[in-house]
Amino acid sequence: MTDRDKKTPAPAAAGSDGSGSEPLLKVEGLVKHFPITKGVLKRKVGAVQAVDGLTFDVRPGETLGVVGESGCGKSTMGRLVTRLLEPTGGKVEFQGRDITHMSAGRLRPMRRDIQMIFQDPYGSLNPRHTVGGIVGTPFRLQGVKPEGGVKAEVQRLLELVGLNPEHYNRYPHEFSGGQRQRIGIARALALKPKLVVADEPVSALDVSIQAQVVNLLDDLQDELGLTYMIIAHDLSVIRHVSDRIAVMYLGKIVELADRNSLYEAPMHPYTTALMSAVPVPDPRRRGAKSERILLKGDVPSPISPPTGCRFHTRCWKATQVCKTTEPPLLQLKTGHQVACHHPENGEDQAPGDAPLVADVITVKSAGAAEPVAEPVAEPVAEPVAPAAEPIAEPVAEPVAEPVAEPVAPAAEPIAEPVAEPVAPVASDEPGGPDASPEAPGSVASEGPEKSAVPATDDEGDGSAAPSTGAEGKPKE
Ligand SMILES: Nc1ncnc2c1ncn2[C@@H]1O[C@H](COP(=O)(O)OP(=O)(O)OP(=O)(O)O)[C@@H](O)[C@H]1O
Ligand code: SF4
Ligand SMILES: [Mg+2]
Repeated sequence: MTDRDKKTPAPAAAGSDGSGSEPLLKVEGLVKHFPITKGVLKRKVGAVQAVDGLTFDVRPGETLGVVGESGCGKSTMGRLVTRLLEPTGGKVEFQGRDITHMSAGRLRPMRRDIQMIFQDPYGSLNPRHTVGGIVGTPFRLQGVKPEGGVKAEVQRLLELVGLNPEHYNRYPHEFSGGQRQRIGIARALALKPKLVVADEPVSALDVSIQAQVVNLLDDLQDELGLTYMIIAHDLSVIRHVSDRIAVMYLGKIVELADRNSLYEAPMHPYTTALMSAVPVPDPRRRGAKSERILLKGDVPSPISPPTGCRFHTRCWKATQVCKTTEPPLLQLKTGHQVACHHPENGEDQAPGDAPLVADVITVKSAGAAEPVAEPVAEPVAEPVAPAAEPIAEPVAEPVAEPVAEPVAPAAEPIAEPVAEPVAPVASDEPGGPDASPEAPGSVASEGPEKSAVPATDDEGDGSAAPSTGAEGKPKE
């Protein structure tokens, strides 16, 4: 199936915002602060508040998309729920079992059910292992003997993801980027997991391959009944693949809603700004988009985030209360949660409050008569293509991404999901010594933080993400 919109909707809401089937994954108040240390004694002088109080759930069979600007904590969240990182606070439940601080030994059997696809298809594959060895690793690590033998099962998996089973003995460098991503997918699916967390599964791929991989994930979900959490910074990809979408800003979920509700009537000003910058590929419909909101400035530092609403330094609707009081994530419409005192398309939660001096935002009207080109009067240098505007569309900015993760550029895409620890070195986790690489399916020893850098890997998110969106996606 290539058209996501034809999919059966996800099961009814469960958990926090409705009733229905039990969530597969339940996250409450999840926190991850990376300590910043100084001196030989490693005195703690601060903390990167990468993830700061996330509450959400993932229902069986659905795809939860997660979007947000670079550095807002998406990958950290992915690594926390797959327990590649130890949470600082909060709770993670998988199938009703609390796995928040579960030991590696007790987690091992659960690793079969929770798998991760990493962003960098090359860095996440051990170049010294053949494809057969890589995809077969989860079976060895988990002591699983598939019917017909490991080789036959690996070849079946390769075929499932559209690779030639004859290439069993080839090495990763003999494949294209898209094929390598498929190898990573085959490996993640080897043990028939229940939940797959895919961190930027297509952002390293060129646009034509993006569509292939997105459609592959889609087909596999139908075939194998998978539940996905897909992290991306490309709103077009997220729209295509997701049943529900969580929008993150500076370590927090600011809006969580089903896809249609979010795209038709976004409630958080940040989401509105993101949406307003999405390019409209149909020239006949461009006239309908008359306003683009250009957020000024960069995302504030997660080391000392703004008080109150973290978005208040960039929000054109900010009032005094926004500066002092953090808005809770509330369900203001059925299945639509938002954290804002003055939501768009919804009831004002703090009417009459005095506005903050709003010199941080430009609300720019392109005008219906001039739908394609931006007005010449725009003082900020702004190219015609909306996706090229680094401030206006942070989630769709491909070029800035590799450089926009200063603290942990090589953190996760290089981590070996099935523990093929080539030559682990200490990660940049400032919280202390890193454990050996552990990933879903691995038997690596337990440690406080589990990231690893195979010696052969040389990049972080080195591959820029083409952010023109997944082509072939349905556009409403
Ligand atoms: N091991 C670490 N040690 C210290 N800080 C870290 C570590 N890993 C991540 N961070 C910081 O936490 C914040 C969130 O990082 P994260 O990788 O989760 O962002 P992201 O949303 O995935 O960004 P991107 O879209 O660029 O991948 C960033 O400020 C990052 O620098
Ligand atoms: S709470 Fe205030 S600052 Fe935050 S998004 Fe809403 S209006 Fe803007
Ligand atoms: Mg990331």
